[in-house]
Amino acid sequence: MAESVATTEQSPSDPVAVGSEGDLPVVLEAAGLTKHFPVRRKGRAALTGPRRAVQAVDDVTLTLRRGRVTALVGESGSGKSTVARLLAGLYPRTAGDIRLHGETVNVKRGRAFRAYARRVQMIFQDPFASLNPVHTVRYHLTRALKIHGRAGDDLEKSLHDLLTRVQLTPAERYIDKFPHELSGGQRQRVAIARALGADPEALLADEPVSMLDVSIRLGVLNLLRDLKERLHLAILYITHDIASARYFADETMVMYAGRMVEGGDSETITQRPAHPYTRLLIESAPDPDRLAEGTASDVPAERGAGEPPSLIDPPSGCRFHPRCPVAMQRCKTELPPRFDVGDASGHWAACWLYGGAAR
Ligand SMILES: Nc1ncnc2c1ncn2[C@@H]1O[C@H](COP(=O)(O)OP(=O)(O)OP(=O)(O)O)[C@@H](O)[C@H]1O
Ligand SMILES: [Mg+2]
Repeated sequence: MAESVATTEQSPSDPVAVGSEGDLPVVLEAAGLTKHFPVRRKGRAALTGPRRAVQAVDDVTLTLRRGRVTALVGESGSGKSTVARLLAGLYPRTAGDIRLHGETVNVKRGRAFRAYARRVQMIFQDPFASLNPVHTVRYHLTRALKIHGRAGDDLEKSLHDLLTRVQLTPAERYIDKFPHELSGGQRQRVAIARALGADPEALLADEPVSMLDVSIRLGVLNLLRDLKERLHLAILYITHDIASARYFADETMVMYAGRMVEGGDSETITQRPAHPYTRLLIESAPDPDRLAEGTASDVPAERGAGEPPSLIDPPSGCRFHPRCPVAMQRCKTELPPRFDVGDASGHWAACWLYGGAAR
């Protein structure tokens, strides 16, 4: 399976996590999502050596609901962008299922891909790279509207509405500008307006503010929140910064070395983290409230130090065990499933601390 990159189908009865917001309609969900990138082999190894793959994403299950922000948090290389790209249909998956309104998604290119992309749009980290420097705001937005068949009878009004929706007003001031004539925050707003040009139901925002000045990050996050509330978008918010997940996301999922390790509502995850890795993440990003309350976790920071593992040959059992300050014998050999943590509904951790007797 490691070498296969074929798109696979699974039965629609596979288990898919149901968050604490069980009543809100599910827009997009993934079950058992897996992506292995084959490693190119050179020379004789290409003929005789073992087939190897970067196990970038393994058995990821998540649910995006209408009008909800779900944060995906983890350190560099943990597989966050790969999850977003799989969900956007930009990579074929090695295994697992992606469902849009309950229907398995199997698009590769052409018309079916465009129809899917209209409903599931992505926003990237670097708005400068994602906008073409030789074209104006008008060009970018007009193209998005036309590709998705939404230019309508009054193109000028549609363009005006898009810019107003991302709070670039008066629209006339921005419409004929080139990307280099805008600030980073304004560029990201144009990228968001372009995504909205498709009238999507889900937005996959891959570190949308991490390249922006700290002073303007909040404005862009507040804009995304406003879109969630007014347009009822389902938003996946990818970030390194678990503190911003508490502020901005309803639900938070934590990823380590390609696997989900903890999930639940953002307040619970950030204030009462259960998985030793989540505790480590929170300790390395101090939250003023938590420090003031004196409730820092009891995991000694130096014991969780170290590097993320190789994803070509990831650790057996729990992938975090070599860095885990409280690892037990079974963590080295047995992969922990999701266990309910029990302090809040929908809070789970893939950690043997929460399941069965220690061995
Ligand atoms: N196209 C690719 N081919 C081979 N390996 C890849 C490819 N894309 C990503 N990877 C590997 O997959 C793993 C996960 O990468 P990914 O970009 O998803 O991580 P990330 O969590 O988004 O990291 P960052 O926070 O730095 O953006 C990494 O080990 C990366 O080297
Ligand atoms: Mg990334």
